[in-house]
Amino acid sequence: MLWAIFAPFFPYLFLHCLYTLILSPFLRKKYMSTEPKRIRTDNMTGKKIGTHNGTFHCDEVLACFFLRQLPEYTDAEIIRTRDPAQLAECDIVVDVGGEFDPKRHRYDHHQRTFTETFHSLCPEKPWVTKLSSAGLVYLHFGRRLLTQLTQLKEDDRQLEVLYDKLYENFVEEVDAVDNGISQCEGEARYTVSTTLSARVGHLNPRWNSKSQDTEEGFRKALKMVGEEFIDRLDFYKSSWLPARTVVEEAVKQRHQIDPSGEVLLFSQGGCPWKEHLFALEKDLQVETPIKFVLYPDQNGQWRIQCVPAGLNTFQNRLSLLEEWRGVRDEALSELSGIKDCIFVHASGFIGGNKTQEGALEMARRTLQAAVQPPANGSS
Ligand SMILES: *[C@@H]1O[C@H](CO)[C@@H](O)[C@H](O)[C@H]1NC(C)=O
Ligand SMILES: *[C@@H]1O[C@H](CO)[C@@H](O)[C@H](O)[C@H]1NC(C)=O
Ligand SMILES: *[C@@H]1O[C@H](CO)[C@@H](O)[C@H](O)[C@H]1NC(C)=O
Repeated sequence: MLWAIFAPFFPYLFLHCLYTLILSPFLRKKYMSTEPKRIRTDNMTGKKIGTHNGTFHCDEVLACFFLRQLPEYTDAEIIRTRDPAQLAECDIVVDVGGEFDPKRHRYDHHQRTFTETFHSLCPEKPWVTKLSSAGLVYLHFGRRLLTQLTQLKEDDRQLEVLYDKLYENFVEEVDAVDNGISQCEGEARYTVSTTLSARVGHLNPRWNSKSQDTEEGFRKALKMVGEEFIDRLDFYKSSWLPARTVVEEAVKQRHQIDPSGEVLLFSQGGCPWKEHLFALEKDLQVETPIKFVLYPDQNGQWRIQCVPAGLNTFQNRLSLLEEWRGVRDEALSELSGIKDCIFVHASGFIGGNKTQEGALEMARRTLQAAVQPPANGSS
């Protein structure tokens, strides 16, 4: 029975074996020697990444860089063409071909019917910027890309955090620029001319230069976007994530610092905490917003800093007591009845105390005052 079903395919299988075993090494050699424009490395797995030729843009350059980081495409040849026959032979095609079909590894976004965003393809993610080939490839291969580049495991929660961060802070911009989506309504106050996309654009041949060859520029662009992506990934992995871990620990331990849960303590100063605090309050479903963070300064004294109302505002959720502001040292200690006070900034967003206990006491007193505003006259 089975034999009967497969019999019609035998001639094909035979030819296929003949091709792979005997003919293809010769053909490939010939092909390579007559096609100097193909970007390749010496150790080829025979895989081909297809993208369009002519003027290149940041999105497909970044997509090609991403793919090349995966084991199956490490040594893949990048074939730049608009010839459908050549593209059909590619293992994966990005930014050309008029098709989006992940099963067949076709990742174009130019077809009229294409309206996908990260959110439309992965409803649990929030980004609604139309995808370019960079975002498409990142969406489908990004986690594996990051496991390759960071040695983190695919199910590590930190990997997911990095995956989100690098979409939001690297790839989404490339998607938006490529799709002509402006950052805000109305006329911009000034020009930003140094985005990654702009710098890739500048590597194309000038309109009036004799050579209109794009291969060297494409190669340079591939190197540039790759270095910048790796650099950024390294920053987020080695600086940003460790800070997030410190803040996360502090958020989890906060009730041990003060039962209110409104005060965080960092045993080491200098850790960038604001962005993480806002994100983690959401992730960890912190119900009562955190008001103060305490940390040692460079002199081993303690700082109390107010949590701002938002990332880009000078408003605080709760400012240090009004009557302490702009007062220093003994005067402040006398006024507050808290010994060892150093200062409270005139705007009330930060204060200092010689000890951790002192700084915590300043937080507690401010919290108490906020719950029970001083009755008439008593302060
Ligand atoms: C070529 O690739 C194979 C498999 O990835 C590897 O084992 C081999 O060391 C490579 N050779 C060179 C010269 O890079
Ligand atoms: C792009 O490739 C096509 C087919 O390979 C070719 O006909 C065309 O001239 C190329 N265009 C540019 C701008 O290199
Ligand atoms: C530190 O805080 C304690 C307790 O609130 C307070 O008594 C003391 O005056 C403060 N000292 C300084 C230098 O801020």
